[in-house]
Amino acid sequence: MKAVVLSDWGDASNFSVQDVPNPAIRPNEVLVRVRAFGVNPADFKTRSGTAPYAKAYTHPIILGWDMAGDIVAVGSEVTDFQQGDAVYGMVNFPEPGQAYAEYVAAPADNLALRPAKLTYEQAAAAPLAVLTAWQALTEHGHLEAGQTVLVQAASGGVGHLGVQLAKALGAKVIGTASGKNEAFVKSLGVDEFIDYTTTKVEEVLNDIDLVFDTAGADTIFQSAEVLKPGGRLISIAYGAMDKVLDKRPDITAERILVHTSGDDLRTINKLIDAGKLHIEVSQVLPADQMAEAHRQLESRRTTGKIVLHF
Ligand SMILES: NC(=O)c1ccc[n+]([C@@H]2O[C@H](COP(=O)([O-])OP(=O)(O)OC[C@H]3O[C@@H](n4cnc5c(N)ncnc54)[C@H](OP(=O)(O)O)[C@@H]3O)[C@@H](O)[C@H]2O)c1
Repeated sequence: MKAVVLSDWGDASNFSVQDVPNPAIRPNEVLVRVRAFGVNPADFKTRSGTAPYAKAYTHPIILGWDMAGDIVAVGSEVTDFQQGDAVYGMVNFPEPGQAYAEYVAAPADNLALRPAKLTYEQAAAAPLAVLTAWQALTEHGHLEAGQTVLVQAASGGVGHLGVQLAKALGAKVIGTASGKNEAFVKSLGVDEFIDYTTTKVEEVLNDIDLVFDTAGADTIFQSAEVLKPGGRLISIAYGAMDKVLDKRPDITAERILVHTSGDDLRTINKLIDAGKLHIEVSQVLPADQMAEAHRQLESRRTTGKIVLHF
């Protein structure tokens, strides 16, 4: 099969398309013919060697966790899926997922059936981002209907799904992005849009129940300022959470890491089937343009998601 192989830590020029052996499946796995695969900031942090989990990897590496495709073989212990099923999922995160390939061996419990409303490209774009947003808002944020949530970086891969999930959960949602993304973020259903390049959230907001901060770095300090006493800050990007809590000891602040879950995807599928979740794919690229995909992602200006295919 063909795969996008990373030869060394460093920049995106270390990717090349190569012929490699097809993966073998374990009893709990299925073999998926990959129709599209997604990229995430975690991919470039792993590629460069800066992600903490990258230390367990050895080169050459096939990166990639997000994919959608068709099952072509089923392990002996797998009962939930059969050959021919169209599936999607985040494979083995944060271990090597090896999804930048024509075939991937995936544990069955990482997968769900691809919702009929999603193309393969949209399904491949979704898993890591949508699981992150879902787990942040529900498992960690305990978001309840009627509460107010601020989503920082509402136009990004995770943020645009966070906005829609929070709305589906019955919250009032405020989203930040730069002005060029205002129409897009409003189309997702936000009750209020804030252009972070012209307005400081801490000067216009207060008494917020939950901030889902997907921007990271210094934004977590501003995010903490807008919370009501007892409010929650859930961050997914790097940032000095201990310093945030020094300044706001009356809030709960947590940096979380997404975990793979076919069950969560099945719950999310119901929202997709009900038309409550749009997956924005801003670009579909051929697999040999992986370096370009990584460079774009590293610019931190991507709207929605980038996906690739062979
Ligand atoms: N811990 C976890 O489990 C986990 C899971 C997923 C992602 N992450 C991390 O979360 C971060 C976001 O991931 P992602 O996939 O959503 O990234 P992304 O798609 O690359 O995010 C890009 C978006 O962020 C917006 N943005 C950038 N800086 C901003 C700021 N200061 N305020 C508001 N919006 C801003 C940009 O909007 P404009 O172009 O309009 O500025 C752009 O649309 C990354 O650092 C990623 O590694 C962590």
